[in-house]
Amino acid sequence: MIKRVRVGLLGCGTLGTEFARVLERKFKDACIVTCLNDIDLDQAEKLRKKIKSKPAIVTLKTMIQKCDFLIEAAAPPVVGDLLKQALPKNRGVLVMSVGGILTSPGIQALLKQKRGLIFLPSGAIAGIDGLLAARVGKIKSVSLVTKKPPKAFKGAPYFVERGKDPMSIRRDTKIFEGTVRQAVKLFPQNINVAATLALAGIGALKTKVSIYACPGLKRNTHQLEVLGDFGRMVTVTENDPFVKNPKTSRLASYSPIALLDKVFGTLKIGT
Ligand SMILES: NC(=O)c1ccc[n+]([C@@H]2O[C@H](COP(=O)([O-])OP(=O)(O)OC[C@H]3O[C@@H](n4cnc5c(N)ncnc54)[C@H](O)[C@@H]3O)[C@@H](O)[C@H]2O)c1
Repeated sequence: MIKRVRVGLLGCGTLGTEFARVLERKFKDACIVTCLNDIDLDQAEKLRKKIKSKPAIVTLKTMIQKCDFLIEAAAPPVVGDLLKQALPKNRGVLVMSVGGILTSPGIQALLKQKRGLIFLPSGAIAGIDGLLAARVGKIKSVSLVTKKPPKAFKGAPYFVERGKDPMSIRRDTKIFEGTVRQAVKLFPQNINVAATLALAGIGALKTKVSIYACPGLKRNTHQLEVLGDFGRMVTVTENDPFVKNPKTSRLASYSPIALLDKVFGTLKIGT
């Protein structure tokens, strides 16, 4: 019998729960969920009850010791610790809170050690495949325009620091223009897509972002433009919210599952 990959889920909220469900249904021959971790124990316990394999609720350190593959669906601040402990042990890690890779010091040095594997899903944007291919040649510019309804920005440091309530915005307003490096600090929960683009393309200092708050907007919209020696690429992705958590897009919940298909499946499509 082929040994199944032991999977640990860090973060048992909306996405963690969805991943557990899919791993048991779709990848049961390839892997088994053996460990869970969540800062909120009730959340971990709730998920444990739903999983057939009845995984142990453990600390991050134990999870890294006992699992071959870790899936992070928690929050950006956990990413640094997770990668610093898991990569030297040659673990595979799928990271959802991609902004955490840009904001945690020391990650670049870890990448140079060439141990372990990090998987970043494309998330709620189309075009990462094209951007990765374009990077083989010369890229002139990468820019992202993101539009979301004001409620999506509740609690964002950008508004908290200014003492402003995003819900007071009454017409379509550009609230930010700058680099990904600045955006991940001001909008950590909204800008995973920009962080992924920066890592896939020309970095957090050169990738440009504009963010709009648009009252009445039904779909979170990302427009990506890449210019390079290959020509020009433009993608527009209009995302319906994920029913179980309107802060997340449906495509963002599908994308890591498609990536897990690449990890655990035989046919691997796309750049
Ligand atoms: N890459 C993408 O495209 C993309 C798309 C959607 C969400 N995300 C990110 O994925 C993460 C999870 O999203 P979600 O919708 O499942 O959120 P959620 O709020 O539903 O669940 C997060 C869970 O993580 C737990 N948690 C928070 N901090 C923790 C810590 N320090 N240690 C352990 N557990 C902790 C919470 O208690 C909660 O149960 C978020 O950071 C979100 O920004 C990324």
